[in-house]
Amino acid sequence: MLSNIVGNTVQGEDFFDREHELDRVLERLETDNVLLLAPRRVGKTSLMYRVREKDKELGRLAAYLDLLSAVAKNPEGEPLRVLQSVLGARVQDPEQRDRQLRYLIDVLQSDGYLVLESERYRFRSALLRDFWARRILV
Ligand SMILES: Nc1ncnc2c1ncn2[C@@H]1O[C@H](COP(=O)(O)OP(=O)(O)OP(=O)(O)O)[C@@H](O)[C@H]1O
Ligand SMILES: [Mg+2]
Repeated sequence: MLSNIVGNTVQGEDFFDREHELDRVLERLETDNVLLLAPRRVGKTSLMYRVREKDKELGRLAAYLDLLSAVAKNPEGEPLRVLQSVLGARVQDPEQRDRQLRYLIDVLQSDGYLVLESERYRFRSALLRDFWARRILV
């Protein structure tokens, strides 16, 4: 049965349409990274969940990692090795893991979310961290 859930990401059979976007993302992921940018509440996270489901159906390794939530949990910030171990639990090949992590951190730094200070990655602003922590700690 379809249900209309407001406020949460949608998964499984609640996910509607987006076939075109889904195909494009899956195709790109064969050779590239994908950075999905869209205004708030457009359905980015739901699409990513659908990509993960589809990848599993196709027998490919799929994992969802919320890097900002990992950083938000610790007010002191997290050292790179902790982030490596978070990602390493899902991506076995250390070279692939480091490449993907470097890419993610570069994006988050250049977008102004994270800064590197005393060997730790932390949120640039306490307000931003609080906002993110509230999202995950509910
Ligand atoms: N494919 C879809 N089918 C049905 N409903 C959807 C779909 N995509 C998004 N929605 C609806 O839109 C809302 C926002 O979706 P989602 O949380 O995935 O967006 P988002 O772009 O990740 O938002 P945010 O910017 O807050 O992170 C969901 O609560 C859901 O009700
Ligand atoms: Mg989202």
